[in-house]
Amino acid sequence: MNDISRRTFALTALSYSRILGANDRVRMGYIGLGNRGDQVHDAFLEHGDQQTVAVCDLRTDYMDFAAKKSRATPTKYNDYRKLLADKNVDATVIATPDHWHAIMFVDACRAGKDVYVEKPLSLTVAEGREMVKVAGESNRVVQVGIHRRSARFLKEAVDAVQSGAIGQVTVAKAFHIQNEWPVGIGKPDNGPPPSPEEWDKWLGPAPFVPYNKNREFYKFRWFYDYSGGQVTNFGVHYMDMMRWCLGQDAPQTVTAMGGKFAVQDNRQIPDTLDVLWQFDGPTLVTFSQYNASSAPWNAQNSEMELRGTKGTLYLHGNRWEIVPEKISDRDFPARTPLDRTSEKAYPSSKHAVIEGRKVSGSSDTAFHARNFLDCVKSRAKCNCDVLTGHLSTSATLIGNIAYKTKSYLEWDPRTERFPNNAAANRLLAYQYRAPYKL
Ligand SMILES: NC(=O)c1ccc[n+]([C@@H]2O[C@H](COP(=O)([O-])OP(=O)(O)OC[C@H]3O[C@@H](n4cnc5c(N)ncnc54)[C@H](O)[C@@H]3O)[C@@H](O)[C@H]2O)c1
Repeated sequence: MNDISRRTFALTALSYSRILGANDRVRMGYIGLGNRGDQVHDAFLEHGDQQTVAVCDLRTDYMDFAAKKSRATPTKYNDYRKLLADKNVDATVIATPDHWHAIMFVDACRAGKDVYVEKPLSLTVAEGREMVKVAGESNRVVQVGIHRRSARFLKEAVDAVQSGAIGQVTVAKAFHIQNEWPVGIGKPDNGPPPSPEEWDKWLGPAPFVPYNKNREFYKFRWFYDYSGGQVTNFGVHYMDMMRWCLGQDAPQTVTAMGGKFAVQDNRQIPDTLDVLWQFDGPTLVTFSQYNASSAPWNAQNSEMELRGTKGTLYLHGNRWEIVPEKISDRDFPARTPLDRTSEKAYPSSKHAVIEGRKVSGSSDTAFHARNFLDCVKSRAKCNCDVLTGHLSTSATLIGNIAYKTKSYLEWDPRTERFPNNAAANRLLAYQYRAPYKL
C-alpha cells in the first residue's frame, strides 16, 4: 500500500470506531489462526460478550477450522487489510509470526481497532517503540499476549517480593530446558513453495529467501528473520515476570554467550545460550536456554527463581513457593587447624527469618482475554499494555544483540540505544523488503 492509500484507508476506518457499553458484545477479528491464534480464539470464546465476526489467515483450512468452532459465521479474509477495513470489527487479535506484528499492529491502530497482539511485541526494538507511539496517538486499547500478567496468583507473588518477603533480590534466573538433540527441527532442503504467492505474503517485510519448510508454520521461531528465538519466545514471558517482581523497567547492561553446539538441524538460533542482564537493585538476571540436555536445573524444576537474602521464590506455571534461607548473625569464622569449634558451630547458628509459603493458581489465557474485553469497553489500560510489552520484549531483544555481536553492552533506556557499541546499534532495526513500510 502506498502512503496516500494507506492514510486514506486509516482515516476512513478510524471513523468506524464505536463506543461500547458494559453489556455490548465486542466484535472480534482474528488475524493468524495457527497454533497460538487458535488457543487465543478459544480463550475469547470462553466469554459470552465476544463475537467472532471475521477471521484472516493465509491458510483456508485454518480459517475454516476457526469458523467452525466460533459458533458464528465470520467473514473469511486472506488479506488482513480487508479485515481491518471491515466496519463490523471492533477489535482484533494478531497472532501471526513476530516479523508481521509491527506492520499489522500499526495498521490496526490506524484503522481504529483495539488490539490484542501476541508476544513478543516486535522483532526489533525500533518497531516496538513505534508501536508504543502509534497506539498512544490513536488512543487504542492494547493487550500484549504475556498472559501471566492477568494471573491473580502471580500478582500475589509480585506483591510478596515487592513487600520484602524474600529480602533483597540479588539474582533472578529463568530457564528454557528441552533436549532437542540430535535431530532438532530436522533439515529439509530448500525447494519450490507449495504456493509462491502465499510464501511471498508469509515473508512480508522479511528478506526474500528460497522456500524452506522449516521457515514457515510454527518452526519460524528457529530463524532470526522472523523471530528472536527462544530468548524472545519463552524468555519474554520470564523477563516480564522478573521485571514485574523486581519493579524495574529496563536493564543497565547485557551480555550473552552460546551457539549451535550439538543439534544437527537447519536452525539459525543457538541450542545452548546464556544471557545475563544487570538491573538496578542491583540484581543479576539470567536466561538459560539449554536445548541439548534436559536435566532439571534446580531441585524444584521451576521455570524461574528469584534469590533473596531471606528466601528464594520458585515460580512454576501454576504455583509458586517461597523457601526460607537460613542465615547467621555471626561472622563467618576463619578456619584454623588449631581450633575447629567455631567452624563446626557456625552452621548451627543459622536460622530462618521468614516463613515458607506455597500458593497455586492458574495463568489461563482466558483471564487475559477477559481483561482485554473489559478494557475495550471501559477504555482502561490492559494488564499488559503496549509499553509493558515493549519493555519486556526489548530487554530480550538486546540479549540477542549481545549474543550476535559477542559484546558486553551498556543500555540507555531513555534513548533505547547502546552508548558503547555502534555495531550493536545497527541491529536495533532492519530494512524492510519493498514495498513494506511501518
Ligand atoms: N502467548 C503465548 O504463550 C504464545 C504461545 C505460542 C505462540 N505465541 C506467539 O504467537 C505468534 C504465532 O505463533 P504460532 O505458533 O501460532 O505460529 P503458526 O505458524 O502456527 O501460526 C501463525 C499463523 O499466521 C498466519 N500468517 C502468516 N502471515 C500471515 C499474513 N500475512 N496474513 C495472515 N495470516 C498470516 C500463518 O498462516 C499461520 O497460520 C508468534 O508471535 C508467537 O510468539 C504466543
